Amino acid sequence: MSGGGSNVPKSKAEGRQMSTGRDLTSTADLTNGGTVLPITRWGTSVMHSRTRPVTSFDDELHTLVRNMFATMAAAEGVGLAATQVGTDLAVFVFDCPDDNEVRHVGVFCNPEVELPEGPDRNFESLEEGCLSLPGAYVGLARPDHAICRGLDAFGEPVEVAGTGLLARCLQHETDHLAGVVFGDRLPNRARKKLHEQHEQLAANYPADWPVSAKVSAEV
Ligand code: NI
Repeated sequence: MSGGGSNVPKSKAEGRQMSTGRDLTSTADLTNGGTVLPITRWGTSVMHSRTRPVTSFDDELHTLVRNMFATMAAAEGVGLAATQVGTDLAVFVFDCPDDNEVRHVGVFCNPEVELPEGPDRNFESLEEGCLSLPGAYVGLARPDHAICRGLDAFGEPVEVAGTGLLARCLQHETDHLAGVVFGDRLPNRARKKLHEQHEQLAANYPADWPVSAKVSAEV
C-alpha cells in the first residue's frame, strides 16, 4: 500500500528472537540485504488470482521476504504483497504506523483478517493508494480496526491489532493475497477517477519502477 506521506520516526524493527543456532534469528534480520524488484501492475494476472499458502519457511521464502522489504522501501510504501513482485504466494510485508504513530514492521504468511462486527464497527474513509497503480489515491471507507493473524517467516504464529493506517494496510494487503485490489472495492465512478489519475502520472513511473527511479514531475 502507498503510505500517503506520513512522517513517523524510524526505529529498529522489532524482531522475535529465537534460541536456535541458525544464522537468521528474527524478522528484523529479513528487513535488510534484499534486492529491489520491479513492482507488478494491476491488470497482470498474478494480481487478480488467489495465492498459494506458504508451506515451506525456508531460505527461498526468506530471500523473497528480503526482496519484498527492499522493494517496499525503494517505493516508499507501507505494505507490499508477494503478488506485487510477481509471486503467487500468500505473503505480505509491512512497515506502517498506527493511529498513535507507532511504527509496526513485520511479515505475514497465510494471513486472515478479523474485522469488528455490530456496534464496535466504525468505518473510516481515507485516501488509499496501491504501489501497483502508482500515483493514484482515492477515498475508500474501511473498518478503522483490524486484527490480522497468520504465521511469520519462520512459521510461528503472529497477531497484529491495527488502528489507523495500519488497520487499512492489513486489510489492503490481505486482499491482495486473495487476488483483490482496492479498486475492486470502489464504486464505478471512484474507480474511473482512480484510473484517470494514474494515467496522468503513469509516465513518471518507469516499467521497472522502483528498480529505475521515479521520473521527476517537471516537464
Ligand atoms: Ni496494493
